[in-house]
Amino acid sequence: MESVSFAAELDKSSRYRDLKPQLAALFDGEPDLIANLANAAAALKGCIRAASWVGFYVVRNGELVLGPFQGNVACVRIAFGRGVCGACATEKRTIIVPDVEQFAGHIACDAGSRSEIVLPILKDGTLVAVLDVDSYDLAAFDDLDAAGLTPIAELLGTLAW
Ligand code: SME
Repeated sequence: MESVSFAAELDKSSRYRDLKPQLAALFDGEPDLIANLANAAAALKGCIRAASWVGFYVVRNGELVLGPFQGNVACVRIAFGRGVCGACATEKRTIIVPDVEQFAGHIACDAGSRSEIVLPILKDGTLVAVLDVDSYDLAAFDDLDAAGLTPIAELLGTLAW
């Protein structure tokens, strides 16, 4: 069993490593933010096997507003400090929630969601959006996801926000 899970972890890390150059190629020469975020959401959803929903909440006039995503319809506006996305935006750090029922204030856009990871996207140190990935599985995301997604969030920060 242990070797199976080791192989799965290796696979997860290498899938993230392969994704970054794919995204960079998609963004290359294309200045449109919405087009690039839409492709990023699709590529991320394809890459992250456990994901039920992948998308962006973009900073607009002091709140988070739904951006391009893949998955079921979702809440449109989230205040800073509210839910996992709002906490990530306020604290400007990656938050992994292994069990959403244990996270006070979690916003259930989809009653089936069991775990999630949210990363801040910074442009020149300023928060421009968060990347939210949800799963129907408990504890779907761990430090390997955070490590794999961090360079991708950095790349996303270089887009034309
Ligand atoms: N669960 C998130 C809200 C966004 S949806 O899951 C797409 C939160 O608590 O911030």
